[in-house]
Amino acid sequence: MKVLFIGGTGNISSSVSRLAVDRGIELYLLNRGKRTSSIAGTKSMTGDIKIPKEIKSILKNHAWDAVVNWIAFNEQDIDRDYELFRGKTKQYIFISSASVYQKPLAFPIVTESTPLANPFWQYSRDKIACEMKLNFYYRQEQFPITIVRPSLTYDTVIPVPIGGWTEYTIVDRIKKGKKIIVHGDGTSLFTITHSDDFAKGFLGLVGHQQAIGETFHITSDEILTWNQIHQALAQAVGCEARIVHIPSDVLASVDDELRGSLLGDKATSVMFDNTKIKRFVPEFSAIIPFNRGIQRTIDWFESDPARQQVRKETNDWMDKIIICYEDALKF
Ligand SMILES: NC(=O)c1ccc[n+]([C@@H]2O[C@H](COP(=O)([O-])OP(=O)(O)OC[C@H]3O[C@@H](n4cnc5c(N)ncnc54)[C@H](OP(=O)(O)O)[C@@H]3O)[C@@H](O)[C@H]2O)c1
Repeated sequence: MKVLFIGGTGNISSSVSRLAVDRGIELYLLNRGKRTSSIAGTKSMTGDIKIPKEIKSILKNHAWDAVVNWIAFNEQDIDRDYELFRGKTKQYIFISSASVYQKPLAFPIVTESTPLANPFWQYSRDKIACEMKLNFYYRQEQFPITIVRPSLTYDTVIPVPIGGWTEYTIVDRIKKGKKIIVHGDGTSLFTITHSDDFAKGFLGLVGHQQAIGETFHITSDEILTWNQIHQALAQAVGCEARIVHIPSDVLASVDDELRGSLLGDKATSVMFDNTKIKRFVPEFSAIIPFNRGIQRTIDWFESDPARQQVRKETNDWMDKIIICYEDALKF
């Protein structure tokens, strides 16, 4: 198969790119070439997807078995891709997000037919709009779409909502014995998926003739509390987590980004039903438990000091919120 990834060197897509190469896919990666680590066996195309004229000229003379856009976030991106790829690919895969599912959830077990509505997060509403646009192109023009909704998925990021992701602030605090914030009382349930596991489910859909017009989420079956997630992170660093619990709606009221990320996603207990991806891709099974996967992630960060970005603003913000909240509790 000849496949194009727009992106392909990111947190999720790097794992998929590596496995695709292992499986003998002829893989082209179109990105701006800003990442230092390259993926052996792929063919690079350097360009900015936001400059369609440049991309058109790079892609002319190519036809694809599948195109995956890892970085489409709004309807304009979908319209652009439709113009770029109609008649040029047998499958177009859009990376959506499991945060599109109804918030708060009326029922905690989520299937692909759970309603889509997220009043808390614009990012999710934009992904919903992308999905609707793609379904329109599929119905009206037979554009061969497949929609994939990752939930929280990690490899080269710290997958916690406060002080993590590409930042190393939370790890630095844990190492120094400083307090860290866990939303709610830390007992709400979430699933975190390693990118290497996600890759196995995802690649089973690439070139799958019955996946056209279909939508899937792909997650681990491991369900953890946020206390367990933070404790596993601390354990990977070899320290104790000094957790301060702060209600999610309090955190949401002081930070708009957290309103989306918590109330629109991570503060809601969720259990993903992965029956559909397992039916289409029977070999898919997620085998990396979080406490092992996060150890690999920490090792990756520790192997290069440049990766360990500790932000003073985040540290100050966390200190301030913790002091205010603990003071308020004294009344
Ligand atoms: N991780 C999660 O928990 C999660 C959950 C739900 C949904 N998602 C979805 O997953 C996707 C992110 O995938 P990822 O983690 O692999 O991506 P990522 O880590 O954000 O990587 C972005 C990739 O896109 C390239 N890129 C960025 N801007 C570009 C531009 N203007 N033109 C061309 N290439 C560009 C980057 O390379 P250069 O910088 O070199 O250009 C890189 O290859 C998003 O759609 C997100 O909504 C993620």
